[in-house]
Amino acid sequence: MSNNIYEDNEKNLQQAAETIKNGGLVAFPTDTVYGLGANVYDGKAVASIFEAKGRPTFDPLISHIAEIDFLKEYAATDDRVMDLAKHFWPGPLTFVLKRKDNISSLDLVCSGLPNIAVRMPNHQLALRLIKAAGVPIAAPSANRFKCISPTTAQHVQESLGDKVDMILDGGPCKIGVETTIIDLTTPHMVMLRAGGLSKEELEDYTGEKVYISHGDPNKPSAPGQLLKHYAPRMPMRINVSEGDVKEDEFFIGFGKVKKANLNLSPSGDLNEAATNLFAYMREAETHQEYKGIAMSPIPQTGLGLAINDRICRASYQE
Ligand code: TXA
Ligand code: MG
Repeated sequence: MSNNIYEDNEKNLQQAAETIKNGGLVAFPTDTVYGLGANVYDGKAVASIFEAKGRPTFDPLISHIAEIDFLKEYAATDDRVMDLAKHFWPGPLTFVLKRKDNISSLDLVCSGLPNIAVRMPNHQLALRLIKAAGVPIAAPSANRFKCISPTTAQHVQESLGDKVDMILDGGPCKIGVETTIIDLTTPHMVMLRAGGLSKEELEDYTGEKVYISHGDPNKPSAPGQLLKHYAPRMPMRINVSEGDVKEDEFFIGFGKVKKANLNLSPSGDLNEAATNLFAYMREAETHQEYKGIAMSPIPQTGLGLAINDRICRASYQE
């Protein structure tokens, strides 16, 4: 397999921006996970994202922008939206907003829905790329559909390889789980996916309750809502205390455990655990001498919501 990882320098950035402008695919780092990017307005390029991932086209994509004011070009905004954007962007928060209905080139990005998902990533390389390309970049996580999201350029290479024109290397992602997705098309804030921004932080800032959508797993408004997602290649059990780990299981611990193969955070820090989660699941599945993965219980607060959501789906048996 050819190596299409490019280091972060001005020449490669310009080449990546040209690739996007010409309808190609560029994987790039964000604060959360690596994205697989294409020009949001280029239907053919967007179609090739779905094809490269093996993702059904009923799963809409997130658009990535580099300036808040760009929101107004294709989404309906109001004071609430702009205030949240000014406070939390750039950062690990995606908004679902009503889209302007006169831009038909966005139909595929939005899977024909009347809404569009938008975010501004907190990552200099991502922001520079979007600005240099001069268009918003549509990007799902840069992995095969239903597989573990990538947090390094090497993960992208392993998962998508030659299906991507370029992979820009910005080192490991700081947050490690995808964005929190909030639906702002209703009077109340509804969380469609738990992610890198905690529900508590949103509630503290707004003084409002954030409702959690459990969705319909057979007709997800976010594919993160599919029952089976983020799956490693061997069976995984969760909420397993140390004493119940079987001999043929690879044990991913959390907090004070004595004999973990890997520990998400020995000090019990949920942010650190989120950063390590996908890389450790990938590492675990390479240990073919084990028959399965067992994981410690994770507290259901802060980023624990996002971690539990991902491992719950990863452990789901079809
Ligand atoms: O952290 C992230 O959000 C990463 C990085 C690359 O930005 N992206 C990401 O994309 O996780 P993806 O495609 O793996 O997940 C995007 C989620 C999907 O669950 C999708 O259904 C939801 O966003 N989504 C996109 N557009 C939507 C819309 N119009 N209405 C409801 N959900 C939408
Ligand atoms: Mg994904």
